[in-house]
Amino acid sequence: MNWCDHKLSRLPFEPPGSGMDRSGPILTLDKVSKYYEAQNGGELLAVKEVSLGVRDREFICILGPTASGKSTLLKMMGGIEKPTLGTMSLRGEIFEDGIPANKLRNFGFVFQQDNLLPWRTVVKNLRLPLEVFHSAGHGSADRIAEMLTLVGLQDYGDVYPHELSGGMRQRVSLARAMVHDPDILLMDQPLGALDAITRRMLSHELLRISRATRKVMVMVTNNIDEALLLGDRILVLTALPGEIAFEAANDIPAEARNEAIIENARYKALRALLDDIVHAQSEAGRTAGRTGGDGE
Ligand SMILES: Nc1ncnc2c1ncn2[C@@H]1O[C@H](COP(=O)(O)OP(=O)(O)OP(=O)(O)O)[C@@H](O)[C@H]1O
Ligand SMILES: [Mg+2]
Repeated sequence: MNWCDHKLSRLPFEPPGSGMDRSGPILTLDKVSKYYEAQNGGELLAVKEVSLGVRDREFICILGPTASGKSTLLKMMGGIEKPTLGTMSLRGEIFEDGIPANKLRNFGFVFQQDNLLPWRTVVKNLRLPLEVFHSAGHGSADRIAEMLTLVGLQDYGDVYPHELSGGMRQRVSLARAMVHDPDILLMDQPLGALDAITRRMLSHELLRISRATRKVMVMVTNNIDEALLLGDRILVLTALPGEIAFEAANDIPAEARNEAIIENARYKALRALLDDIVHAQSEAGRTAGRTGGDGE
């Protein structure tokens, strides 16, 4: 079966081992498109008619060729970019012009670069979202301590970012993104700047954190192994303009998602399939002159 067959048969999402979640989506996108102003003065269609519903406790991973609109899509989901066309809704509230700024506290962001403030200690970096969202009052020290414990950095609150390794800084970023208790954590290649060993270790940490918090997470990654370890649902975008080319529930059982996952037969099959799909999309983009490669 090639990827085209899968495009025709979108699978319903069913979180493995947790029973079907019948509540409505927290965040929806209905035929959302984004045009940017191109360098030649024309318009560049970066994301085309993406429709998606993000459900409670769901972990979605987004794969795709490089420059296929993944970051643009993620930014629209969190209200950082406004869609040009299409409707979005957050907890049932409908928005014709994208998620408004006053809903920003519903989201936490983690990017490839940690963006920590170098002049603030770890604790003070974690205080930042609480200050921005006016919730830095009573109880914030406990909340910060709780988040630092969650990411395993309870003994590092008083150090400055430059005293931490890259992996530790990304843990701080993760804690900072969750400290104000957002509904949805949006992550854009959060492990992309790390060396291979740290990256693998942190991907398992992220799995533990997602299970501990049961937070809704959406992660852009160029790494199929991460997507299969973490994603309950995996989307693959086409080359520019980014459309959903493929979408499937990840049916690798929760108990098999551990260090031994690479031995799992289903994992091997899905990995090969996703690899084919992503490469086919990259190749199609290259042939059409729309993208530079597969982002690996
Ligand atoms: N602010 C902007 N203004 C104009 N064009 C933009 C802007 N942001 C992104 N683009 C263009 O939109 C397209 C999609 O970019 P985007 O960053 O969403 O891709 P991506 O899939 O995240 O890429 P990568 O895998 O390299 O991170 C690219 O052609 C990019 O040049
Ligand atoms: Mg990107």
